[in-house]
Amino acid sequence: MTIQIEALGKQIHSSTSTWLFRDVNASIMEPTIIGILGKSGQGKSTLLRILGRLLQPDAGTVFLEKKEMSLWDPRAWRMKISYVAQQAVMLPGSVEDNLRTVSTLHQRPFDMKLASDLMEQLYMEEIDWSKPATQLSGGEKQRLALVRSLMLQPSVLLLDEVTASLDTKSKQAAERLLVDLHHQTGTTLIWVTHDLEEARVACKRIWFMANHQLAEDTECEAFFHSPQSVEAREFLQDGNVHAALSEVQR
Ligand SMILES: Nc1ncnc2c1ncn2[C@@H]1O[C@H](COP(=O)(O)OP(=O)(O)OP(=O)(O)O)[C@@H](O)[C@H]1O
Ligand SMILES: [Mg+2]
Repeated sequence: MTIQIEALGKQIHSSTSTWLFRDVNASIMEPTIIGILGKSGQGKSTLLRILGRLLQPDAGTVFLEKKEMSLWDPRAWRMKISYVAQQAVMLPGSVEDNLRTVSTLHQRPFDMKLASDLMEQLYMEEIDWSKPATQLSGGEKQRLALVRSLMLQPSVLLLDEVTASLDTKSKQAAERLLVDLHHQTGTTLIWVTHDLEEARVACKRIWFMANHQLAEDTECEAFFHSPQSVEAREFLQDGNVHAALSEVQR
């Protein structure tokens, strides 16, 4: 499973049509965990949504398994690359309906055991499956949306701040589940997060977005140890200040 991103760009559709980001080039030639970091509004979600084929780029393209995106049936693409949204969207119906939807959509048998196992691993075993999904808490919705995507067993998971609204215990469970999944199955994770510690522990590679481009594509340790760009240094310093402040407040 390979992904090649070539000269990818997305415009902000305003009166002045400026680029949110442009000329993004990167390739993934083997299973990995990539952390996407960058300030709010840099286009991290937009990039993930393009990779998940929920949004069209305004320039450039993406190759999956050496085949250009427009040559792929979008549904076949989304079975391989699944996007888990920043704001979890519940489908109509019960928790169980939500769990079953992806199987129905992709004409696959529903794996009840896999669903129960995943729910349990994310501390959701107590949830009543007949409950309307819209009545779940924010963190429960987030985890259900994650389970829904995991049920697809995609080659690539696009994770958009999927641990942001979780308590510490659930957050650690989700991180463990995802990293284990990568090790056991070779699933590639492309993981947007504002949690620097999470990125540092989980990821192998960092894509850092700044100045309307992919400013750095660096091995994880190297990024945190010796970032190349001024923007990344500032970004990490700000992050460290926040971490230090929350230590003090504790
Ligand atoms: N559908 C859209 N139409 C117009 N503008 C959009 C749309 N989606 C996003 N944008 C704009 O594009 C910019 C980047 O948004 P995006 O959500 O990709 O940022 P982000 O890096 O994920 O930020 P955050 O860290 O806050 O989630 C923002 O200024 C946003 O207002
Ligand atoms: Mg975002």
